[in-house]
Amino acid sequence: MQERIAEILSEAKERLACATEKKEVDDIRVAILGKKGQLTEILRGMGGLSKEEKKQIGPLANKAKNELEQLINKKFDDVKEAAKNAQFKKEKIDVTEPGREFRMGVKHPITLVAEEISKIFKDLGYEVVQGPLADTVYRAFDGLNSPANHPSRDLTDTFYFNEDICLRPHTSTMQVRTLEEREAPFRIVSLGRCFRCDTPDATHSPIFHQCEGLIVDEGISMTDLKGTLDLMAKQLFGPDTKTKFRPHHFPFTEPSAEMDVSCFKCGGKGCSVCKGSGWIEILGCGETHPNVVGLGGIDTEKYTAFAFGMGLERIAMLKYGVDDIRLFYENDMRFIRQFR
Ligand code: DAH
Repeated sequence: MQERIAEILSEAKERLACATEKKEVDDIRVAILGKKGQLTEILRGMGGLSKEEKKQIGPLANKAKNELEQLINKKFDDVKEAAKNAQFKKEKIDVTEPGREFRMGVKHPITLVAEEISKIFKDLGYEVVQGPLADTVYRAFDGLNSPANHPSRDLTDTFYFNEDICLRPHTSTMQVRTLEEREAPFRIVSLGRCFRCDTPDATHSPIFHQCEGLIVDEGISMTDLKGTLDLMAKQLFGPDTKTKFRPHHFPFTEPSAEMDVSCFKCGGKGCSVCKGSGWIEILGCGETHPNVVGLGGIDTEKYTAFAFGMGLERIAMLKYGVDDIRLFYENDMRFIRQFR
């Protein structure tokens, strides 16, 4: 019997030493001191022992019980402490760790230019309108008075979905849309993405942006066009900017012109930006052709119009001194962050 008690005690100590979790300690307690525990059975069997044996075994069993109880309680405390420490370790916060840099987003340079141009025209009473990127071939060409053999209709110039639908090659589709939908007078600008089958190089991209403008009112003439676009140029490139209108041809305007601005870099003396000429071409414009003005039923005897279209990338490249259009689409934050 003595041996059995000693055995229980040593075995329990061994198991306790290895235990790392509360559940394990509790299992040991139940196995030894629980209702049917090894030591409990011995203590319960005391009644059947002789007086002599009782005297010998009783204190021994009680001592073992006390010792084990103490060991188990101590182990409970240890396990609890260890669990707490492990959690602390896991949740440890290094207060000396440097903070993570918070990066504010910036507006893309094309967005900045689009917003600046929108503001100029809003201040002049124009409404900024949006249109779909895919539109009818009619709105891209026929409605704009483009002859069936116009080179821009070529499959190598425009992306077609089928005979009737294409990705808009210019924002001029918005002239047709607004003329179809609106009563005169009105004035709109529309800024957005356009598409052409161009191989990317320093000045071409198959996806680019344009701003289209159209004003329809009584008595709109070339002088309104010149005054408006001259004002826009001065706001975009500075108050000393001069403008020059060169005759040109567009199917949807008559007369048509291209507008140049005096070089804001050299002031007109000639430099690398203006390629020595002192002037930089920035847009196409003209008095809108009556065939276009009248396509939605507007009375072309009463109302006249002017329109213009310009590339936003070109304006951004000039304003910000960017020499390769591809930089706008590479999503390199080192580039984009420069234009805040
Ligand atoms: N749509 C022309 C282009 O993409 C630009 C243009 C020229 C638009 C003259 C106009 C305009 O509204 O009147 O090259």
